Amino acid sequence: MPDTIWWKSGTVYQVYPRSFQDTDGDGVGDLAGITARLDHLAWLGVDAVWISPFFRSPMADFGYDVADYCAVDPLFGTLADFDALIAEAHRRKLKVILDFVPNHTSIEHPWFAESRASRTSEKRDWYIWRDPAPDGGPPNNWLSNFGGPAWTRDEASGQYYYHAFLAEQPDLNWRNPDVRAAMHDVLRFWLERGVDGFRVDVIWHLIKDEGFRDNPANPDFAADRPGIERFSQVYSCDRPEVIEVIAGMRSVLREYGERVLIGEIYLPIERLVAYYGPDLTAADLPFNFQLLETPWRADAVAALVAEYEAALPEGGWPNWVLGNHDRPRIAARVGEAQARVAAMLLLTLRGTPTLYYGDEIGLGHVPIPADRVRDPWEKNEPGHGRDPVRTPMQWDEGPNAGFSPAEPWLPQTADLERRNVDAMRDDSRSILTLYRRLLSLRRDHAALSVGGWRGLPLAPEHAAEIFAYERFEGAETVRILLNFGGSEQAVPLEGGPAWTVLLSTRPGRAGEIARDVLPLAPDEGVVLRADSSR
Ligand code: NOJ
Repeated sequence: MPDTIWWKSGTVYQVYPRSFQDTDGDGVGDLAGITARLDHLAWLGVDAVWISPFFRSPMADFGYDVADYCAVDPLFGTLADFDALIAEAHRRKLKVILDFVPNHTSIEHPWFAESRASRTSEKRDWYIWRDPAPDGGPPNNWLSNFGGPAWTRDEASGQYYYHAFLAEQPDLNWRNPDVRAAMHDVLRFWLERGVDGFRVDVIWHLIKDEGFRDNPANPDFAADRPGIERFSQVYSCDRPEVIEVIAGMRSVLREYGERVLIGEIYLPIERLVAYYGPDLTAADLPFNFQLLETPWRADAVAALVAEYEAALPEGGWPNWVLGNHDRPRIAARVGEAQARVAAMLLLTLRGTPTLYYGDEIGLGHVPIPADRVRDPWEKNEPGHGRDPVRTPMQWDEGPNAGFSPAEPWLPQTADLERRNVDAMRDDSRSILTLYRRLLSLRRDHAALSVGGWRGLPLAPEHAAEIFAYERFEGAETVRILLNFGGSEQAVPLEGGPAWTVLLSTRPGRAGEIARDVLPLAPDEGVVLRADSSR
């Protein structure tokens, strides 16, 4: 029997709370808004909702700068609103995953105030303080992910503190056992309230090189890339000791039964898989962002999936991501037709898929006029900002697509009158319908949710355009053929059983039976079941 634990067989849906649903009329989403929209998630057919941070914060980085880990920011509501959200989610059999931001706090966190107060403060060592370099400058060459140096000098003490992101986000010192204990208590606070797991922010950053060595120059740096890429981040993150820190967090989760620990990790595959830890004791799911970075071509994606599958440790459960609040939207990147193929890919690969809110209605690129830029990264390094992927959800034909009666904090798509949940939900051709059908297919076929995966070799004339693979469980075999190209393809089914089309990205093909050859339209993907399967 395959393992059917919920976070393996299920699907995760990410909500960016500022942009899901506003209920108090300030143009920014809130927790009560998420609760009000849980029926959408249940109807769509996902299993868990991951909510980006809603904790007390001065919002320098929109909540990824936490000033109190155990309080809800008034912008988003109250703890009572959170309790209502989790109760309503569980009533609908939806799991709730929180966003834990342990690498850094807000500069306004009382721990930092205490740490900064003097060199002899009890909490001095809770953060990363270093003396200036001999020339009086920063202690080493580490850069901030949001542009500029990663060290800020504190005039009072003359020392520098380290921040991998904004100066308003000082990094905690995870080598200090008191920091670990305090953060474990934060996990317990939320676990006691019933949360089903955590997505852990920049988990590979938690431990830095003990000797604070300079990062080496990156010979492949390109001028159009963010400044952080001038150096390879070999000493500022991904240090071997981090695995044990993650295992420590995971054991806190295990005190509460089957809760999931998902780690945010942007690393190449061979390093990513190290985060399962020895004997799978670290992250349950090291987030796999490879689809966000791989060129959108059948051969490239096929090679990626094969490489990832081969690299997984024994028993390590895979996962896949097509979009999040930091990276360009899939529909903006590959276009509307391929966004449908991408949905089929995400929901038929082996492993837990994470969907990003709004991808189910094909939200694409939203241009942000200069006077509406909100992301601090865009302000520091124009062109790299994330506002276009955080625009408010579009629900109906009402004002601001039903998101808020007030002007939303970010603009919405120009086609919001037709690109919204209400307009698409009963349209059999819509991408929303496709997502819903894929989710239901995945739920109905163990081969898709928990079965094995194998890539299918194709003749050279197809391999550049088509990615083909099978999923299997027990007597059932399901085959997936995805056309990444713009030309029609006749894909041989090499004899064997007859195949029934379970679903196509083009409406109207379900139920079709194919024997020797399956014609695939441009940008079409299909899921077929071998007729010998039952
Ligand atoms: C990763 C988060 O996903 C991103 O949104 C945030 O800005 C940084 N971590 C800093 O917390």
